[in-house]
Amino acid sequence: MIYELSIEGETGSSLVVSGERIQNLGNYLPRKRVIVITDDKVGKLYQSILASYEVITVQEGEKSKSLDTVGLILQKLVEMKADRDSFILAFGGGVVCDLTGFVASIYMRGIRFGYVATTLMAQADASIGGKNGINVGGIKNLAGIFRQPEFVLCDPVFLKTLDKDEISSGFAEMIKHALIADEQLLNHLETNIALLNELDQDLLPSILHRSLLIKTSIVSRDEKEKGERRKLNFGHTFGHAIETIYGFKHGHAVSIGMVMAALLSVKKGYILKKDLYRIITLLKCFGLPVEISPQWPDIFRAIELDKKRESGYFHFVLLKKPGEAVIESLDYDFVKSITDIYEREIRRYS
Ligand SMILES: NC(=O)c1ccc[n+]([C@@H]2O[C@H](COP(=O)([O-])OP(=O)(O)OC[C@H]3O[C@@H](n4cnc5c(N)ncnc54)[C@H](O)[C@@H]3O)[C@@H](O)[C@H]2O)c1
Repeated sequence: MIYELSIEGETGSSLVVSGERIQNLGNYLPRKRVIVITDDKVGKLYQSILASYEVITVQEGEKSKSLDTVGLILQKLVEMKADRDSFILAFGGGVVCDLTGFVASIYMRGIRFGYVATTLMAQADASIGGKNGINVGGIKNLAGIFRQPEFVLCDPVFLKTLDKDEISSGFAEMIKHALIADEQLLNHLETNIALLNELDQDLLPSILHRSLLIKTSIVSRDEKEKGERRKLNFGHTFGHAIETIYGFKHGHAVSIGMVMAALLSVKKGYILKKDLYRIITLLKCFGLPVEISPQWPDIFRAIELDKKRESGYFHFVLLKKPGEAVIESLDYDFVKSITDIYEREIRRYS
């Protein structure tokens, strides 16, 4: 079954299609010159699909979300004589989508673009919502732009070639969506752990659709992240710090970040300890890490650099209850008080 959702934003409209087959890509592409951006790993795996396109290939991995790579792609586009009539197609995971959205937004002051999302992380989160960022000076997504891809095609067949860690990373963002906005989705995730971990090709697109409904509706209401969209950053304050310091995969870092944010939600008196343990159990069932040996000074240094800290306060996302998030301006000392409760609670549970 094919599921369609749309985002109507100030920066463009986006059609998100999950459960769609890659063989139907032509139905979404304009009749224009199409230039594909992919990474070396995906390019090799799916060379038969890409054979009929002009392709720019970057190195796989987070290191490519850099100004250097942006420069290389822009140079290539010039050499290829790409013009305002060309269409750029990202074919890859979150890194390739973020990079492509950024480049397509600045090349000739913006040309048309769309995505084929090939990781669960990209299908569940990274390719959706029009946030296109690159990392600068060790800070995640410091330079970026809001602009919607014309379409996002999510074919579950691509997930079959992913490593286990890439799969679990994507599930972290689906769990995040459930935690911030939809307790029923949380129940579905809890009752279908085995089938989802096996990437059941019928069930997965329907659960993905429900998860995407949360993201697309929040983005449609607050495209530029002035308010409600910040809820999508649940787990990301600590998550980005952990990703940068420890080199964890994005979803794995977010998983630990969600545990930390849930701990602060308990400390605030919002969720109960049993809710915290429920969250930890679910994350573990999807193969996600829930703890590290934290180097707190490094973590707090990274958090201070993070762009979300404004005038001494954090716009921090907490859980009021499972399925409902709240954005609060937290005092830095309260955030730092995580050190007291982290060891105690995590050790008790694991
Ligand atoms: N823009 C947003 O709103 C947003 C949201 C969440 C995450 N992100 C960003 O997304 C990035 C993480 O995305 P990701 O986890 O997809 O990383 P990624 O793009 O680096 O992909 C992970 C790995 O999987 C490989 N891969 C991709 N598709 C494959 C396939 N079908 N089969 C086998 N291997 C495949 C890639 O080559 C890479 O090695 C981070 O940079 C994060 O900041 C952005």
